[in-house]
Amino acid sequence: MPESHVVTISRFLVDQERLHPEATGAFTDLLSDIALAAKMIGREVNKAGLVEILGRAGEENVHGEEVQKLDLYANEVIFKALDHTGRLACMASEESEGFIPIPEKFPTGDYVLLFDPLDGSSNIDVNVSIGTIFSIHRKVSEGPRGDLIDCLQAGCRQVAAGYVLYGSSTMLVYTTGTGVHGFTLDPSIGEFLLSHPDMTMPEPPAKVYSVNESYYPRWSEPQRRFVDHLKGEAGFNSRYIGSLVADVHRTLLTGGIFMYPADSKSPNGKLRLLYEASPLAMVVEQAGGRASTGSRPILDIEPTDLHERTPLYIGSAGFVEQAERALAGGSKI
Ligand code: AHG
Ligand code: MN
Ligand code: MN
Repeated sequence: MPESHVVTISRFLVDQERLHPEATGAFTDLLSDIALAAKMIGREVNKAGLVEILGRAGEENVHGEEVQKLDLYANEVIFKALDHTGRLACMASEESEGFIPIPEKFPTGDYVLLFDPLDGSSNIDVNVSIGTIFSIHRKVSEGPRGDLIDCLQAGCRQVAAGYVLYGSSTMLVYTTGTGVHGFTLDPSIGEFLLSHPDMTMPEPPAKVYSVNESYYPRWSEPQRRFVDHLKGEAGFNSRYIGSLVADVHRTLLTGGIFMYPADSKSPNGKLRLLYEASPLAMVVEQAGGRASTGSRPILDIEPTDLHERTPLYIGSAGFVEQAERALAGGSKI
């Protein structure tokens, strides 16, 4: 690729900012801060395979330092990369029970960051792709320093959302509501380069469904019938990595449907609304796909708890609509 076509994420963000004269630049800096955190997390994720040498989480490494669990490390990296910038009013993380105020010694700003610092962490030890998911809202509370209410906003109010995939390469994919853009890290220069401009879900979509079928006995009858239909007369193929970011990224690129249904043991499913389903729903819908609870749009849900869970059906719009019809008990899938 000629050098002139090398677009770094910083350049892309500045170009995008120029398209919005009212932009203050705080948003551009915020996404650049997230990209920095992603590089730092990616560096540690790529070393995870060296745990025998570097020490296992909770133990000491060869230097006598306490080794952190990677998801707690990722949590800290994101917090420390953004807590002092003056761009955030507060944060919330999968790893923190309550919302995370900005330390008093730092100024606050107009944005709110919700994140899953490391998604799919059970896959670290088997070297399977894992990810980071982030969601950005505008502050809505009156006070100067952010409050829980700033974190409990419906997905349709997100100003940006995205994820980082630590896979065969490290990719950062995000949207600010004007399309979806993918950047791949070039480790030789430490830069995220624009590799997937304006990502849109393919038509016709690949006939792939992605769900953990070991829960089949716990599903509702309509859910079972729908998956039986997909693997039967509909002739779908099945792919399930067990890392949400990797499964959704593949679905975004090839088409298909990812499902994490409710079941008899988990009436709201397993995935969390605020920092898993909502941000991924914004990305996929911006790419022309659809994201649903199985009966209503993910982005319409008004959250009441930081860690509330939701069933998730996400991917090619036609397939998600089929799932909604099947779950409504419609005979015609
Ligand atoms: P996290 O590691 O952040 O807790 O998320 C794990 C999630 C998600 O990555 C994946 O889709 C799901 O767990 C897999 O769950 P099952 O093992 O029940 O299929
Ligand atoms: Mn997760
Ligand atoms: Mn996680």
